[in-house]
Amino acid sequence: MKIQVNARNRAYQFDVAEGQRILYGGLADGIHLPYECGSGTCGTCKARVTAGQIDDLWPEAPGRKYLKQSGEFLMCQCTARGDVSLEVTNFVYNMDPGACLPVAGRGGVCKPRMLTHDVIAFTIELAAPCDFDAGQFMAVQVPGVTGYRGYSMVNFEPGAKSLEFLVKKKPGGGASEWLFNSKVDGQTVELFGPLGSATFFPSLAKNLLLIAGGSGIAGMMSILSRACQEHYFDQYGGHVFFGVRTMKDTFFLEELSKYRGEFPQKLSVTIALSDEDPPTDAKGHAGLDFDRGLVHEVAARHMKGKYQNMRAYLAGPPPAVDAAIRVLLLEARLTADNIRYDKFS
Ligand SMILES: Cc1cc2nc3c(=O)[nH]c(=O)nc-3n(C[C@H](O)[C@H](O)[C@H](O)COP(=O)(O)OP(=O)(O)OC[C@H]3O[C@@H](n4cnc5c(N)ncnc54)[C@H](O)[C@@H]3O)c2cc1C
Ligand code: FES
Repeated sequence: MKIQVNARNRAYQFDVAEGQRILYGGLADGIHLPYECGSGTCGTCKARVTAGQIDDLWPEAPGRKYLKQSGEFLMCQCTARGDVSLEVTNFVYNMDPGACLPVAGRGGVCKPRMLTHDVIAFTIELAAPCDFDAGQFMAVQVPGVTGYRGYSMVNFEPGAKSLEFLVKKKPGGGASEWLFNSKVDGQTVELFGPLGSATFFPSLAKNLLLIAGGSGIAGMMSILSRACQEHYFDQYGGHVFFGVRTMKDTFFLEELSKYRGEFPQKLSVTIALSDEDPPTDAKGHAGLDFDRGLVHEVAARHMKGKYQNMRAYLAGPPPAVDAAIRVLLLEARLTADNIRYDKFS
Protein backbone atom coordinates (compact mmCIF):
# COMPACT_ATOMS: atom_id res chain seq x y z
CA MET A 1 0.00 0.00 0.00
CA LYS A 2 1.31 3.43 -0.92
CA ILE A 3 1.37 6.34 1.50
CA GLN A 4 1.72 9.85 0.10
CA VAL A 5 2.75 12.45 2.68
CA ASN A 6 2.31 16.11 1.82
CA ALA A 7 4.48 17.99 4.31
CA ARG A 8 4.97 21.73 4.62
CA ASN A 9 8.13 21.68 2.51
CA ARG A 10 7.70 18.74 0.10
CA ALA A 11 5.95 15.44 -0.64
CA TYR A 12 7.16 11.90 0.14
CA GLN A 13 5.96 8.44 -0.85
CA PHE A 14 6.58 5.15 0.93
CA ASP A 15 5.04 1.68 1.19
CA VAL A 16 3.50 0.12 4.26
CA ALA A 17 2.69 -3.53 4.81
CA GLU A 18 -0.75 -4.61 5.95
CA GLY A 19 -1.09 -3.91 9.68
CA GLN A 20 2.05 -1.74 9.79
CA ARG A 21 1.68 1.55 11.64
CA ILE A 22 1.98 4.46 9.17
CA LEU A 23 4.59 6.22 11.35
CA TYR A 24 6.75 3.11 11.56
CA GLY A 25 6.51 2.57 7.77
CA GLY A 26 7.73 6.11 7.04
CA LEU A 27 10.55 6.00 9.61
CA ALA A 28 11.72 2.60 8.34
CA ASP A 29 11.96 4.23 4.90
CA GLY A 30 14.27 6.94 6.27
CA ILE A 31 11.64 9.71 6.30
CA HIS A 32 11.81 11.72 9.51
CA LEU A 33 8.05 11.99 10.11
CA PRO A 34 7.17 13.97 13.26
CA TYR A 35 6.97 11.90 16.48
CA GLU A 36 8.16 11.82 20.08
CA CYS A 37 6.79 8.86 22.07
CA GLY A 38 5.92 6.52 19.16
CA SER A 39 3.25 5.00 21.42
CA GLY A 40 0.10 7.12 21.40
CA THR A 41 0.52 9.63 24.19
CA CYS A 42 2.23 12.83 23.01
CA GLY A 43 0.19 13.74 19.89
CA THR A 44 3.31 14.84 17.95
CA CYS A 45 2.65 12.41 15.08
CA LYS A 46 -0.66 14.10 14.23
CA ALA A 47 -1.58 14.03 10.50
CA ARG A 48 -4.74 14.52 8.40
CA VAL A 49 -6.08 12.04 5.88
CA THR A 50 -6.88 13.66 2.54
CA ALA A 51 -7.61 10.48 0.55
CA GLY A 52 -8.04 6.80 1.42
CA GLN A 53 -9.02 5.00 4.61
CA ILE A 54 -7.20 4.23 7.82
CA ASP A 55 -7.83 1.96 10.81
CA ASP A 56 -7.21 3.23 14.32
CA LEU A 57 -5.59 0.54 16.50
CA TRP A 58 -6.19 2.50 19.71
CA PRO A 59 -9.15 4.93 19.53
CA GLU A 60 -8.72 5.80 23.25
CA ALA A 61 -5.05 6.86 22.85
CA PRO A 62 -4.34 9.86 25.14
CA GLY A 63 -2.56 11.62 22.26
CA ARG A 64 -5.91 11.94 20.47
CA LYS A 65 -6.71 14.92 22.70
CA TYR A 66 -4.45 16.96 20.41
CA LEU A 67 -6.58 16.15 17.34
CA LYS A 68 -8.87 19.08 16.56
CA GLN A 69 -9.90 18.93 12.90
CA SER A 70 -11.88 16.29 11.09
CA GLY A 71 -9.67 13.67 9.40
CA GLU A 72 -6.83 14.10 11.92
CA PHE A 73 -5.24 10.94 13.34
CA LEU A 74 -2.10 9.67 15.10
CA MET A 75 0.33 8.11 12.63
CA CYS A 76 1.80 5.90 15.39
CA GLN A 77 -1.58 4.29 16.09
CA CYS A 78 -3.07 3.94 12.61
CA THR A 79 -2.68 1.55 9.70
CA ALA A 80 -3.75 2.00 6.06
CA ARG A 81 -6.61 0.05 4.51
CA GLY A 82 -5.34 0.82 0.98
CA ASP A 83 -3.42 3.69 -0.61
CA VAL A 84 -3.61 6.78 1.59
CA SER A 85 -2.71 10.45 1.11
CA LEU A 86 -2.11 12.54 4.19
CA GLU A 87 -0.97 15.97 5.23
CA VAL A 88 1.34 17.00 8.05
CA THR A 89 1.83 20.64 8.98
CA ASN A 90 5.50 20.14 9.90
CA PHE A 91 8.60 20.41 7.75
CA VAL A 92 9.72 16.84 7.02
CA TYR A 93 13.21 15.81 5.93
CA ASN A 94 14.98 12.59 5.06
CA MET A 95 17.05 11.16 7.89
CA ASP A 96 20.72 12.07 7.78
CA PRO A 97 22.92 9.67 5.82
CA GLY A 98 24.45 7.32 8.40
CA ALA A 99 21.44 7.60 10.77
CA CYS A 100 20.40 4.31 12.38
CA LEU A 101 17.25 3.38 10.45
CA PRO A 102 14.50 1.96 12.67
CA VAL A 103 13.42 -1.57 11.80
CA ALA A 104 11.02 -4.13 13.17
CA GLY A 105 12.77 -6.88 15.10
CA ARG A 106 12.42 -9.23 18.00
CA GLY A 107 14.41 -10.59 20.87
CA GLY A 108 14.39 -12.80 23.93
CA VAL A 109 14.20 -11.37 27.43
CA CYS A 110 16.90 -12.61 29.77
CA LYS A 111 18.58 -11.82 33.08
CA PRO A 112 15.67 -9.96 34.73
CA ARG A 113 16.97 -8.49 37.99
CA MET A 114 15.48 -6.14 40.56
CA LEU A 115 17.52 -2.94 41.05
CA THR A 116 15.23 -1.59 43.78
CA HIS A 117 11.82 -2.58 45.17
CA ASP A 118 10.15 -1.04 42.07
CA VAL A 119 12.78 -0.93 39.32
CA ILE A 120 13.66 -3.96 37.22
CA ALA A 121 16.53 -4.29 34.75
CA PHE A 122 16.62 -6.86 31.98
CA THR A 123 18.46 -7.72 28.78
CA ILE A 124 16.97 -8.41 25.37
CA GLU A 125 19.09 -10.76 23.25
CA LEU A 126 18.39 -9.61 19.69
CA ALA A 127 17.54 -11.95 16.82
CA ALA A 128 19.63 -9.63 14.59
CA PRO A 129 22.30 -7.10 15.73
CA CYS A 130 21.23 -3.48 15.86
CA ASP A 131 22.95 -0.10 15.62
CA PHE A 132 21.57 2.73 17.71
CA ASP A 133 22.73 6.12 18.95
CA ALA A 134 23.37 6.88 22.60
CA GLY A 135 20.15 8.25 24.13
CA GLN A 136 17.72 6.38 21.86
CA PHE A 137 14.81 4.13 22.80
CA MET A 138 12.95 1.10 21.45
CA ALA A 139 9.22 0.59 21.04
CA VAL A 140 8.66 -2.76 22.76
CA GLN A 141 5.58 -4.98 22.53
CA VAL A 142 5.32 -7.69 25.18
CA PRO A 143 3.24 -10.89 24.92
CA GLY A 144 -0.47 -10.55 25.64
CA VAL A 145 -0.37 -6.72 25.93
CA THR A 146 -1.70 -4.53 23.09
CA GLY A 147 0.51 -1.77 21.70
CA TYR A 148 4.13 -0.71 22.03
CA ARG A 149 5.83 0.92 25.04
CA GLY A 150 8.92 3.13 24.82
CA TYR A 151 11.99 2.00 26.81
CA SER A 152 15.39 3.67 26.58
CA MET A 153 18.55 1.66 26.04
CA VAL A 154 20.98 1.71 28.97
CA ASN A 155 23.95 0.31 27.06
CA PHE A 156 25.81 1.64 24.04
CA GLU A 157 27.72 -0.38 21.51
CA PRO A 158 27.78 -0.44 17.71
CA GLY A 159 26.19 -3.55 16.21
CA ALA A 160 24.73 -4.48 19.59
CA LYS A 161 23.67 -8.11 19.96
CA SER A 162 21.75 -7.31 23.10
CA LEU A 163 20.00 -4.31 24.60
CA GLU A 164 19.86 -3.38 28.28
CA PHE A 165 16.77 -1.77 29.77
CA LEU A 166 15.38 -0.72 33.10
CA VAL A 167 11.73 -0.21 33.91
CA LYS A 168 10.07 1.47 36.85
CA LYS A 169 6.96 -0.31 38.04
CA LYS A 170 3.73 1.35 36.99
CA PRO A 171 0.98 -0.19 39.11
CA GLY A 172 -1.76 -1.50 36.81
CA GLY A 173 0.34 -0.84 33.68
CA GLY A 174 0.06 -3.64 31.09
CA ALA A 175 3.75 -4.05 30.24
CA SER A 176 4.80 -3.22 33.79
CA GLU A 177 2.57 -5.91 35.33
CA TRP A 178 3.90 -8.40 32.76
CA LEU A 179 7.52 -7.56 33.57
CA PHE A 180 7.16 -7.57 37.33
CA ASN A 181 4.66 -10.37 37.82
CA SER A 182 5.33 -13.10 35.29
CA LYS A 183 8.15 -15.39 34.31
CA VAL A 184 9.67 -13.19 31.62
CA ASP A 185 13.01 -14.97 31.27
CA GLY A 186 13.19 -16.50 27.77
CA GLN A 187 10.00 -14.84 26.50
CA THR A 188 10.02 -13.21 23.04
CA VAL A 189 9.15 -9.52 22.60
CA GLU A 190 8.55 -7.51 19.41
CA LEU A 191 10.61 -4.37 18.83
CA PHE A 192 10.58 -1.34 16.57
CA GLY A 193 13.48 1.04 16.63
CA PRO A 194 15.81 2.63 17.39
CA LEU A 195 13.78 5.79 17.92
CA GLY A 196 14.31 9.24 19.40
CA SER A 197 16.44 12.27 18.76
CA ALA A 198 17.78 13.05 22.25
CA THR A 199 21.02 11.58 20.97
CA PHE A 200 24.64 12.26 21.84
CA PHE A 201 27.56 12.17 19.40
CA PRO A 202 31.15 12.90 20.46
CA SER A 203 31.43 15.41 17.58
CA LEU A 204 29.09 17.67 19.63
CA ALA A 205 32.10 19.36 21.27
CA LYS A 206 30.09 20.83 24.15
CA ASN A 207 29.92 20.30 27.89
CA LEU A 208 27.16 17.89 28.91
CA LEU A 209 24.43 18.37 31.48
CA LEU A 210 22.41 15.19 32.11
CA ILE A 211 19.30 15.51 34.30
CA ALA A 212 17.32 12.33 35.01
CA GLY A 213 14.24 11.73 37.11
CA GLY A 214 14.01 8.08 38.24
CA SER A 215 14.05 5.66 35.30
CA GLY A 216 15.13 8.60 33.09
CA ILE A 217 18.68 7.61 34.07
CA ALA A 218 18.43 4.77 31.49
CA GLY A 219 19.28 6.86 28.41
CA MET A 220 21.80 8.91 30.42
CA MET A 221 23.75 5.73 31.14
CA SER A 222 23.92 5.10 27.40
CA ILE A 223 25.20 8.64 26.81
CA LEU A 224 27.76 8.28 29.62
CA SER A 225 28.84 4.93 28.24
CA ARG A 226 29.50 6.39 24.81
CA ALA A 227 31.15 9.56 26.17
CA CYS A 228 33.47 7.55 28.46
CA GLN A 229 34.34 5.00 25.75
CA GLU A 230 35.46 7.91 23.57
CA HIS A 231 37.27 9.81 26.38
CA TYR A 232 34.96 12.76 25.78
CA PHE A 233 35.50 14.04 29.32
CA ASP A 234 39.24 14.45 28.71
CA GLN A 235 38.21 17.63 26.96
CA TYR A 236 34.65 18.56 27.95
CA GLY A 237 32.85 18.81 31.27
CA GLY A 238 30.00 16.54 32.32
CA HIS A 239 27.45 17.11 35.08
CA VAL A 240 25.00 14.33 35.95
CA PHE A 241 21.98 14.88 38.23
CA PHE A 242 19.97 11.79 39.14
CA GLY A 243 16.76 12.41 41.09
CA VAL A 244 14.99 9.81 43.24
CA ARG A 245 12.86 10.01 46.38
CA THR A 246 15.03 8.32 49.01
CA MET A 247 18.28 6.38 49.34
CA LYS A 248 16.38 3.12 48.99
CA ASP A 249 15.29 4.24 45.49
CA THR A 250 18.86 4.73 44.27
CA PHE A 251 20.53 2.33 41.85
CA PHE A 252 23.48 2.37 39.43
CA LEU A 253 25.58 4.16 42.09
CA GLU A 254 28.49 1.81 41.48
CA GLU A 255 28.34 2.34 37.73
CA LEU A 256 28.07 6.12 38.14
CA SER A 257 30.98 6.26 40.56
CA LYS A 258 33.06 4.15 38.17
CA TYR A 259 32.48 6.70 35.38
CA ARG A 260 33.23 9.55 37.78
CA GLY A 261 36.43 7.78 38.88
CA GLU A 262 37.62 7.62 35.26
CA PHE A 263 37.29 11.41 34.81
CA PRO A 264 37.42 12.94 38.31
CA GLN A 265 38.49 16.39 37.05
CA LYS A 266 35.74 16.83 34.49
CA LEU A 267 32.78 14.66 35.47
CA SER A 268 30.55 15.32 38.48
CA VAL A 269 27.59 13.18 39.60
CA THR A 270 24.98 14.42 42.07
CA ILE A 271 22.18 12.28 43.48
CA ALA A 272 19.14 14.42 44.39
CA LEU A 273 16.88 12.99 47.09
CA SER A 274 13.48 14.68 47.12
CA ASP A 275 12.01 13.13 50.28
CA GLU A 276 14.85 12.84 52.79
CA ASP A 277 18.18 14.35 53.74
CA PRO A 278 21.12 12.33 52.47
CA PRO A 279 22.39 10.06 55.25
CA THR A 280 25.72 11.31 56.60
CA ASP A 281 27.51 8.16 55.44
CA ALA A 282 26.23 8.75 51.86
CA LYS A 283 28.08 12.04 51.46
CA GLY A 284 31.18 11.48 49.37
CA HIS A 285 30.04 7.89 48.72
CA ALA A 286 32.41 6.63 46.02
CA GLY A 287 32.99 10.12 44.62
CA LEU A 288 29.29 10.98 44.27
CA ASP A 289 27.63 14.07 45.73
CA PHE A 290 24.26 13.88 47.42
CA ASP A 291 21.83 16.73 47.98
CA ARG A 292 18.25 17.21 49.10
CA GLY A 293 15.58 18.51 46.69
CA LEU A 294 13.77 17.93 43.43
CA VAL A 295 16.29 17.12 40.72
CA HIS A 296 15.72 20.34 38.72
CA GLU A 297 16.17 22.45 41.89
CA VAL A 298 19.37 20.65 42.86
CA ALA A 299 20.71 20.98 39.30
CA ALA A 300 19.85 24.71 39.25
CA ARG A 301 21.68 25.24 42.59
CA HIS A 302 24.81 23.34 41.57
CA MET A 303 25.01 24.67 38.01
CA LYS A 304 24.65 28.43 38.65
CA GLY A 305 27.13 30.25 36.41
CA LYS A 306 28.39 27.03 34.75
CA TYR A 307 26.27 26.83 31.61
CA GLN A 308 28.86 27.92 29.02
CA ASN A 309 29.00 25.85 25.81
CA MET A 310 26.43 23.41 27.22
CA ARG A 311 24.09 20.77 25.76
CA ALA A 312 21.49 19.39 28.17
CA TYR A 313 19.77 16.00 28.03
CA LEU A 314 16.71 15.43 30.19
CA ALA A 315 14.56 12.36 30.77
CA GLY A 316 11.98 11.08 33.21
CA PRO A 317 8.40 11.80 34.26
CA PRO A 318 6.87 14.74 32.31
CA PRO A 319 6.58 17.11 35.34
CA ALA A 320 10.30 16.61 36.16
CA VAL A 321 11.31 17.19 32.53
CA ASP A 322 9.07 20.27 32.19
CA ALA A 323 10.47 21.79 35.39
CA ALA A 324 14.04 21.22 34.19
CA ILE A 325 13.25 22.72 30.76
CA ARG A 326 11.95 25.87 32.47
CA VAL A 327 15.20 26.22 34.46
CA LEU A 328 17.31 25.70 31.36
CA LEU A 329 15.39 28.19 29.23
CA LEU A 330 14.75 30.90 31.82
CA GLU A 331 17.76 30.71 34.18
CA ALA A 332 20.46 29.02 32.14
CA ARG A 333 19.37 30.74 28.90
CA LEU A 334 20.17 27.64 26.84
CA THR A 335 18.73 27.72 23.33
CA ALA A 336 16.00 25.17 22.53
CA ASP A 337 18.33 23.16 20.23
CA ASN A 338 20.65 22.61 23.21
CA ILE A 339 17.90 21.05 25.31
CA ARG A 340 17.14 17.46 24.27
CA TYR A 341 14.56 15.50 26.21
CA ASP A 342 12.41 12.37 26.47
CA LYS A 343 9.23 12.63 28.51
CA PHE A 344 8.39 9.21 29.93
CA SER A 345 4.64 9.58 29.43
C1 LIG B 1 10.78 7.97 24.76
C2 LIG B 1 10.38 7.20 25.98
C3 LIG B 1 11.32 6.46 26.67
C4 LIG B 1 10.94 5.78 27.84
N1 LIG B 1 11.89 5.06 28.51
C5 LIG B 1 11.55 4.43 29.66
C6 LIG B 1 12.51 3.67 30.40
O1 LIG B 1 13.67 3.55 29.99
N2 LIG B 1 12.11 3.08 31.55
C7 LIG B 1 10.82 3.21 32.02
O2 LIG B 1 10.51 2.65 33.09
N3 LIG B 1 9.90 3.91 31.34
C8 LIG B 1 10.22 4.51 30.17
N4 LIG B 1 9.28 5.21 29.49
C9 LIG B 1 7.91 5.25 30.01
C10 LIG B 1 7.19 3.99 29.64
O3 LIG B 1 7.10 3.87 28.21
C11 LIG B 1 5.78 4.01 30.19
O4 LIG B 1 5.87 4.09 31.59
C12 LIG B 1 5.12 2.74 29.74
O5 LIG B 1 4.43 3.01 28.58
C13 LIG B 1 4.22 2.13 30.76
O6 LIG B 1 3.63 1.03 30.14
P1 LIG B 1 2.66 0.07 30.90
O7 LIG B 1 2.15 -0.93 29.94
O8 LIG B 1 3.32 -0.43 32.12
O9 LIG B 1 1.48 1.04 31.35
P2 LIG B 1 0.04 1.24 30.64
O10 LIG B 1 -0.64 2.31 31.44
O11 LIG B 1 -0.66 -0.06 30.49
O12 LIG B 1 0.39 1.77 29.22
C14 LIG B 1 1.01 3.00 29.05
C15 LIG B 1 1.29 3.23 27.60
O13 LIG B 1 1.17 2.06 26.79
C16 LIG B 1 0.55 2.34 25.57
N5 LIG B 1 -0.78 1.67 25.51
C17 LIG B 1 -1.62 1.38 26.54
N6 LIG B 1 -2.73 0.73 26.09
C18 LIG B 1 -2.58 0.63 24.77
C19 LIG B 1 -3.39 0.06 23.73
N7 LIG B 1 -4.55 -0.51 23.96
N8 LIG B 1 -2.95 0.13 22.45
C20 LIG B 1 -1.75 0.73 22.19
N9 LIG B 1 -0.95 1.28 23.14
C21 LIG B 1 -1.37 1.23 24.39
C22 LIG B 1 0.48 3.81 25.55
O14 LIG B 1 1.64 4.37 25.07
C23 LIG B 1 0.28 4.17 26.99
O15 LIG B 1 0.55 5.49 27.32
C24 LIG B 1 9.62 5.87 28.30
C25 LIG B 1 8.67 6.58 27.58
C26 LIG B 1 9.04 7.25 26.44
C27 LIG B 1 8.00 8.02 25.68
S1 FES C 1 4.35 9.81 18.49
FE1 FES C 1 2.29 9.30 18.16
S2 FES C 1 1.34 10.04 19.94
FE2 FES C 1 3.45 10.33 20.37
